[in-house]
Amino acid sequence: MAVERTFVMIKPDGVQRGLIGEIIQRIERRGIKLVAMKFMNATDAILEAHYAEHIGKPFFAGLVEYIKSGPVVAMVWEGDNVIETIRTTMGKTKAHEAAPGTIRGDLALHISRNLVHGSDGAEAAAREIAIWFSEAEQISFTRNTDGWIHE
Ligand code: RTP
Ligand code: MG
Repeated sequence: MAVERTFVMIKPDGVQRGLIGEIIQRIERRGIKLVAMKFMNATDAILEAHYAEHIGKPFFAGLVEYIKSGPVVAMVWEGDNVIETIRTTMGKTKAHEAAPGTIRGDLALHISRNLVHGSDGAEAAAREIAIWFSEAEQISFTRNTDGWIHE
């Protein structure tokens, strides 16, 4: 397994519903390492870059309006195979199909209020991290517990 970094965002519904701690805790307790975090308002420029693949789709305007409706928590997380692990921890995009035990399966109901975003592959992760964070904002560090989380 390779050490990866992935971009995660707690969307405005997660902030408004008081679920920041709950969502971060679920990721943190798996042993995944936080390497960058910002509480911020997303701009049109950021969202047009971040959601470039969705420009022109019928849900795009509503998606941008939703993500701009309040502050978000933008984060970079690091760990073995973390891109897939975080997607699994979040559950399916269509929250009504997300399995119990996942963030969406326990806390969300609808695709357009699905609480979190996580990069869907290595290319997306690299692209998205660069949109939201500079190199200097990402902190490489060792935890004393790392040896208890992976070999
Ligand atoms: P995400 O980017 O948020 O992690 O979700 P995803 O890769 O699983 O799904 P994606 O297809 O990239 O969609 C991004 C976000 O757009 C909203 N969406 N709404 N109403 C709709 O039909 C619809 N389709 C997508 C969701 O907020 C989804 O997470
Ligand atoms: Mg996506």
